[in-house]
Amino acid sequence: FQPKPLAGKRVLLTAGPTVEPIDPVRVISNRSSGKTGYALARAAREAGAQVTLVSGPTALPAPRGVDVYPVQTARQMHQAVMAQARQADIFIAVAAVADWHVKNAATQKMKKTESGAGAPVLEFEPNPDILADVARLDGGPWCVGFAAETENLSEYAQAKRQRKNIPLLVGNLAHEVMDADDTRLVLFDDRGEHPLPAAGKLDAARRLVAEIAARLPR
Ligand code: C5P
Repeated sequence: FQPKPLAGKRVLLTAGPTVEPIDPVRVISNRSSGKTGYALARAAREAGAQVTLVSGPTALPAPRGVDVYPVQTARQMHQAVMAQARQADIFIAVAAVADWHVKNAATQKMKKTESGAGAPVLEFEPNPDILADVARLDGGPWCVGFAAETENLSEYAQAKRQRKNIPLLVGNLAHEVMDADDTRLVLFDDRGEHPLPAAGKLDAARRLVAEIAARLPR
């Protein structure tokens, strides 16, 4: 038993949603409380790591001893992560990143009309895939991804792990864990599928940190 399995390691995480403006007062976002990512940041810190958390807007306090970089948009999150990824030993992408941003976002508040005519038509442009970009770095960190699915978890999760070319992907069923305090994680690696017991998000995070530490190349 090693009490500090991540001593001397640098862990970079993303957490929370990203927020994409439509105009100065309206946004498009994803549902994400940030609880899992913040719990993992805390668990990694407890395990002895130096932890940096790039976070979209959440209602959560910064975990003790963790450096937090607040961001709003996926492109800001991408920039903050890429600036720090080469210094990290482990990257854990927990954020619910918006897949698209609004290409024709307005710089002034859009006004509605009495008649309801002239409703805006939004045009979308894809956001960068932060996890895939970090996984592509030469000599980059050991990468962990998350997949929240509503169905076919095993199939989608293994496909996603291979597509993003990462050693470990953590799956959960979105409707079970969204906003909840408990979670049920399933690990997918090159040896297959490993379900973890249902647990509170902090206990699940501590278990996941132990699973990551056990898989790190020495
Ligand atoms: O492709 P998908 O969004 O389903 O993959 C989820 C995983 O990829 C999560 O780990 C998420 O944080 C990460 N991701 C990312 N950048 C994106 C989209 C997803 O880092 N633009």
